[in-house]
Amino acid sequence: MINIAVLGYGTIGSGVVEVLNTNGESIKKRAGEKINIKYVLDLREFPGDPIMEKLVHDIDIILNDPEVQIVVEVMGGVEPAYTFVKESLLRGKSVCTSNKELVAKHGAQLLDMAKERGLNFLFEASVGGGIPIIRPLNQSLTADEIVEITGILNGTTNYILSKMSDEGLDFNTALKYAQEKGYAERNPAADIEGYDACRKIAILSSLAFGMQVDFEDIYTEGISKITYNDICYAKSMGARIKLFASSIKEDNKVYAMVAPVLIKANHPLYSVNDVFNGIFVRGNVIGDVMFYGSGAGKLPTASAVVADIVDAAKHLEKNIWTIWSSKKLELTDVNKVKHRFFVRVVKQENIKDLVQQLFGEVEEVIVDTILDEYAFITSMQSEEQFNQKKENLQVLNAIRVRF
Ligand code: HSE
Repeated sequence: MINIAVLGYGTIGSGVVEVLNTNGESIKKRAGEKINIKYVLDLREFPGDPIMEKLVHDIDIILNDPEVQIVVEVMGGVEPAYTFVKESLLRGKSVCTSNKELVAKHGAQLLDMAKERGLNFLFEASVGGGIPIIRPLNQSLTADEIVEITGILNGTTNYILSKMSDEGLDFNTALKYAQEKGYAERNPAADIEGYDACRKIAILSSLAFGMQVDFEDIYTEGISKITYNDICYAKSMGARIKLFASSIKEDNKVYAMVAPVLIKANHPLYSVNDVFNGIFVRGNVIGDVMFYGSGAGKLPTASAVVADIVDAAKHLEKNIWTIWSSKKLELTDVNKVKHRFFVRVVKQENIKDLVQQLFGEVEEVIVDTILDEYAFITSMQSEEQFNQKKENLQVLNAIRVRF
């Protein structure tokens, strides 16, 4: 029997307990031994819940118990999770976590600590909810040089954009539904402003390129500026708006960005809707690979956490080697990155001439019902060039075009 302790009895923690109860027998076969939850740590009480028998409020009970071999951290946030995880590793316990903030900030160090001690620090659930992506990057795509990772990595924003587009819901109603379903972060800005996707692409980039990609270095723009009119224009072009998190290697340098983009049906991520996540990976020998599944939610995320517990149980004495050096990867200056831009501006006298003077030939986009705006798509240009030119216009919104 392998004893584990679960830190945090929120959405994911209770999901982990449920998955272990539901699939205990098959999990036992796969892990080689029964996985026994010895403790659950939470500050709250859960009257009437059988978990009360295992509930503790003091981390030291877990840290001081040599029978606990695996600690499952599903609390979220950097502190106290970081302290608890570090202490667990120092006491010889492997750690499985779903905590993207923790992994993005301290992943390299915690992996090193685990490696030095012949333990494991596993974090499949930190990116893509239930989708296997960390393990494929570490263990399956090892023959390749990764040249691109582009993902829809945030379920909440994908859900909001899908509901706005397909059901005409307004932004706040769609957000409320996502919160009710348990997809959204406690602080809505983490989803809506792209910070959650930013941490996730930082983790994937660090693994893909084997060096530390600091999330603070990644240009990040969320979906809070997307309006009903943007959706109308997208539809008129046969396009969809998606929040992309990308990390692309060009001329031996990597650029990373989180931002809404317009894509058409020929893009592999076009059909990734609702709470689903999709991750497109391009390797220099394998070519294109796609990963798709539930990117958020109690049981899908718990499924990934429990898969890590099984892996940790199978490798109690052996570190599963992961290459993620703490040496910082210098990213390309995002101002130099080139895109086409879809732009909506306030209609004013001679607007077409003004746009042409600034941008040369553009593609006009027309929606019959929107009369007070002028919308167009520019040719390829750098972020820097675009930002200079747009100063001369009353820009309502600008979205990068990936078609
Ligand atoms: N808030 C996150 C999302 C949860 O919506 O994707 C999963 O990380």
